[in-house]
Amino acid sequence: MAYLIGIDVGTSGTKSILVREDGEVVARATEEYPLLTPKPGWTEQNPDDWWQATQVTVAKCLENAGIDAGEVAGIGFSGQMHGSVFLDKQGNVVRPCILWNDGRTSAECDQITKILGDRLSTITCNPALTGFTAPKAVWLKNNEPENFAKTETLLLPKDYVRYKLTGELAAEVSDGAGSLLFDVPNRTWSQEVYEALGLPWSWAPPMHESTGVCGQISESAAKVTGLKPGTPVVGGGADNPCGATGTGVVKAGRVLASLGTSGVIFAPSDSCQTDPGGRLHTFCHSVPGQWYLMGVILSAGLSFRWFRDVIGGAEIAEAEKAGGDPYDLLTKLAGEAPLGAEGLVFMPYLTGERTPHRDPHARGGFLGLTIRHGKQHLVRALLEGITFAMRDSLELIKALNVPIVEIRATGGGAKSPFWRQLQADIYGEEICIVGSSEGPALGAALMAGVGVGVYKTLVEACDNVVEVVERVQPNKENHERYNEIYGVFNGLYGDVRERCHRLHAFAEKHA
Ligand code: XUL
Repeated sequence: MAYLIGIDVGTSGTKSILVREDGEVVARATEEYPLLTPKPGWTEQNPDDWWQATQVTVAKCLENAGIDAGEVAGIGFSGQMHGSVFLDKQGNVVRPCILWNDGRTSAECDQITKILGDRLSTITCNPALTGFTAPKAVWLKNNEPENFAKTETLLLPKDYVRYKLTGELAAEVSDGAGSLLFDVPNRTWSQEVYEALGLPWSWAPPMHESTGVCGQISESAAKVTGLKPGTPVVGGGADNPCGATGTGVVKAGRVLASLGTSGVIFAPSDSCQTDPGGRLHTFCHSVPGQWYLMGVILSAGLSFRWFRDVIGGAEIAEAEKAGGDPYDLLTKLAGEAPLGAEGLVFMPYLTGERTPHRDPHARGGFLGLTIRHGKQHLVRALLEGITFAMRDSLELIKALNVPIVEIRATGGGAKSPFWRQLQADIYGEEICIVGSSEGPALGAALMAGVGVGVYKTLVEACDNVVEVVERVQPNKENHERYNEIYGVFNGLYGDVRERCHRLHAFAEKHA
């Protein structure tokens, strides 16, 4: 049986897995690296950290699996989206990568919107948002002209790692689609957008589909990773399409509900549909001939982590003593409060919000506190609020008549039985759980499998490897009660938006 490697170049670390073609994960390794915040609202990473982490994790996987490197049939990637790696003529990194959650480019977004007008949404299918790649390239031009002049190539994060492994400059459609430099309906770079924004067209690397082979492991990369020179490497995909693939969400009708650091509702479509309000993103899926609509909640698990760190001191201490997990203890506590937390609602906008508000200055909050509320109510309202925010995206997708036949839940929010039931009850839909929790890295490995002919298509690969192991049914009565409180949640931010902006301005002024 053939082996495949999936490398997920994430924001907190790089995870590599070695998978047998029947889906059995035989080795995995993760290596973390820092997130640099040189100024408030800025986030950067050093691309060399991804490369070092790739070398270490791939070498560990090969060593732990105890297989011959020649048995690896192909390698695929998953990557954090929207980052900007600027390379000079020699292929060296010009400056640290500006990441997907960086907020420095508001002015450049306005500039892009003004320059491109209606052409922006016609070509790229999306509005200019600070996280996307094009505003970062324009920012470089406006703010670091000497680095702009040195730049010869613009790569997305995982494409830099592939370049280090193969020596080939390449990109693929699913990540290209998140750059705002991309003709999304036609699945190719947009020369019109490049030129309108004053960016050199020569910066754009050759474009492939996710399953296309775009290089082989070089002699020098083989030495530092233990891989065999000549091993084929495919395009791979952006982390969300890879996560969807790793969960079997490769057909219209199957929808992914992912609750990790951010929350994502991901719905594949056989045509390139867009949200006229620009609240959902439209990008290319890694499945050839498919696109997807996606809602992104910036602080899903991140809100829970904030709660754990700021309010969950007792649970952290108890978990340390007993060897448990503070999240499990907090989730158990949430179960002690009644549904709807006695009229307490949480808005999870702790780092602004993308869907549906498109507002980097959105702020979070609890509304409805009374003297009766304890910590159990706070944590329950928090989990409910995050899940209501996910439902906002689901409702937008339903309103566009994108088919929803089956929702597959993944991420931290799918691990806890309490949160699974909460999702089923709040969405009013059955929630499916798949057997593998490897997500994006598995999707990346399956893309490699298709590229080298182990599987014919991604749909076939998923049919072989990904299995639904549990189905959680919504409780009708609970759903009706949640509808009442969702009615409060769903109009709330609109009511306080202007006040949030004033609070933001106050905080900026007096920071
Ligand atoms: C999607 C997005 C995030 C990153 C995280 O638009 O910005 O999900 O891909 O890595």
